[in-house]
Amino acid sequence: MRERLDRLLKEALSELGNAASKEAALQVKAKYLGRKGELSSLLKELASLTGDDKRGAGELINNAKNSLEAAVGVRLSGFDEKEMAERLSAERVDVTLPGRCVYPGKLHPVTQVLSEVEEIFLNLGFTIAEGPEVELDSYNFEALNIPKDHPARDMQDTFYVSGDVLLRTHTSPVQIRVMERAAPPLRVIAPGTVYRRDSDITHTPMFHQVEGFMVDEGVTFANLKAVLTHFLHRLFGEKTSVRFRPSFFPFTEPSAEVDIRCVICSGKGCRVCKGSGWLEILGAGMIHPNVFKSVNYDYEKFSGFAFGLGIERIAMLKFGIDDLRLFFENDLRFLRQF
Ligand code: PHE
Repeated sequence: MRERLDRLLKEALSELGNAASKEAALQVKAKYLGRKGELSSLLKELASLTGDDKRGAGELINNAKNSLEAAVGVRLSGFDEKEMAERLSAERVDVTLPGRCVYPGKLHPVTQVLSEVEEIFLNLGFTIAEGPEVELDSYNFEALNIPKDHPARDMQDTFYVSGDVLLRTHTSPVQIRVMERAAPPLRVIAPGTVYRRDSDITHTPMFHQVEGFMVDEGVTFANLKAVLTHFLHRLFGEKTSVRFRPSFFPFTEPSAEVDIRCVICSGKGCRVCKGSGWLEILGAGMIHPNVFKSVNYDYEKFSGFAFGLGIERIAMLKFGIDDLRLFFENDLRFLRQF
């Protein structure tokens, strides 16, 4: 029995040693240690033995079984370790590689400038009002002292929806809508989208304006100058020179165009300011008595100023962008720069 066992064990160990894979090692295990394996059939033979013989043989078989089990365990864990090592080297992660960039969401540059403009006026005690983008002719023109045959209508190429309904060409109709509903004193800004039949590198058919107006007893042109100068200093820096030029709008009298020193060339003259050293930034003026009449305000008692500015134009100057259309193409390579 001992001899047979020794032979069997030797045989088993050498087969185990030759096993080239985990599967092969498991086959060896089944062959010798399995329920129908060689050692089990030896155990069955014990039945024919008796007494000390039986006990001695049983012990030998169990010892052989234990040592074979231990050897199988070592062999199998050897394969496991090898497999793990292979996987680790195959799946190696290079932690020094730069990570994939995650771009956080950001506000559109037009929205950024709009918020900045709103912030400045909110700090001056202005409130924000809004009006419809699809507007009536009477609000967009008539009540603003631009009658049907008035040549000033040519200043703004209008998209008409029907005879009396149009896409607003400016935010000035919000002046009328607010004054219709509320009495002075008023300090209001009205940001929003406006539409004109225009398209080139400095014009898009849709763009954003901010309207502003202040109405009370005794509001003067000096107030207009002070508020707009303060605003432009906050927006472009305290050192920015501001200039008021006489101009014309049907709904203001007197009217002015407001310029700042060119932010690109500091006044030396360049392509952006067309050599003049100045940039036109705002339209403004004292609200025309006819506008007050159309909302039943007492124009002897109240006076006010109004102004309008284009947000994209300011964004172009602040960020040094030379094509307005970039704002609306929404190319991520462009938007991510802000
Ligand atoms: N509504 C004018 C425009 O769009 C701007 C403006 C507003 C001018 C208020 C004077 C006063 O051109």
